Amino acid sequence: MTEPAIKYRLLKKEKHTGARLGEIITPHGTFPTPMFMPVGTQATVKSLAPEELEEMGANIVLSNTYHLWLRPGEEIVEQAGGLHRFMNWNKGILTDSGGFQVFSLAKIRDITEKGVHFRSHLSGEKLFLSPEKAIHIQNSLGADIMMSFDECPPFFESYDYIKKSVERTSRWAERGLKAHLNPERQGLFGIVQGGGHQDLRQLSARQLVAMDFPGYSIGGLSVGESKTEMNHVLDFTTPLLPENKPRYLMGVGSADALIDGVIRGVDMFDCVLPTRIARNGTCMTSHGRIVIKNATYARDFSPLDDRCNCYTCRNFTRAYLRHLFKADETFGLRLASYHNLYFLLHLMQNVRQAIKDDHLLEFREAFFEEYGFNKK
Ligand code: GUN
Ligand code: ZN
Repeated sequence: MTEPAIKYRLLKKEKHTGARLGEIITPHGTFPTPMFMPVGTQATVKSLAPEELEEMGANIVLSNTYHLWLRPGEEIVEQAGGLHRFMNWNKGILTDSGGFQVFSLAKIRDITEKGVHFRSHLSGEKLFLSPEKAIHIQNSLGADIMMSFDECPPFFESYDYIKKSVERTSRWAERGLKAHLNPERQGLFGIVQGGGHQDLRQLSARQLVAMDFPGYSIGGLSVGESKTEMNHVLDFTTPLLPENKPRYLMGVGSADALIDGVIRGVDMFDCVLPTRIARNGTCMTSHGRIVIKNATYARDFSPLDDRCNCYTCRNFTRAYLRHLFKADETFGLRLASYHNLYFLLHLMQNVRQAIKDDHLLEFREAFFEEYGFNKK
């Protein structure tokens, strides 16, 4: 039996919450958890260079099977020497399986036991993705962590549908595991689904845990349900997962949700949110979000966030950033993207320190107060 590509080391549990301090061990390095992973859907974290990501403390970036399969095609990435070489990123990479993207982006679909028929959102071409194909593409891309091909049903879909979907997602996970060629070089995670139903999350977790994946994702959240509902699902889902494996909450990246997820025992998060809102000029600060285009900032010569030590905040003012956005200069969205990612990476650094100090609830209280969450 060869060593698995992905391992997790639990270092400490916080005294008063379910939070875990740990390390994820990948073929491209060992990284501290809980962690936030910037999203680079098309083999680039929009507008940022790998050097910049490294400098701000990013350790794993996310990319997408669906997008890279359609363009440029996984065989080109493979020929380039794999995704790490292709995009010149030597730390961790995680690829999503394409399941979620097919359901959210592609047109008309027929979901069968074999897989999903759909039309490309780029060319309109008829395509088919199956659990085996999603694994095959991810083997060609060569990310450290791969995702099983799953279905992410709407949170408020009927109980009967979600039950059928969970069972199919488990069968797809099993097929993916069989199709996976190099578990010693790439770790494949199972994705727990089940909507808002405790018994379906249980069913999903039980079936996937029996397959002994090196890590478990929690999917089907942040898809329109409230924060309270999401936290409730996490409350009963994380205890279903093995302690010695990493837990990854997919597609969640608002500051409050990260802290509340960590408290419930989540180790990894990703989201397009920080970079997406940065591109329209919304910046996360320790005092809440600000819309930098607003006239209030025209003569504001202070940094974006007085508590931030990032490249943007050390060198530029709100007035300058506002000017760049008003003038449609691309440097503005680069600076805002840099800051927002740094903000979340730095937040997670503080969260890890608070776990070490057994002060996570106090940290949450202070952060929420300053960020303005408590006012709502
Ligand atoms: N990204 C966000 N949510 C999900 C999910 O449920 N499944 C997959 N594959 N990706 C996601
Ligand atoms: Zn900053």
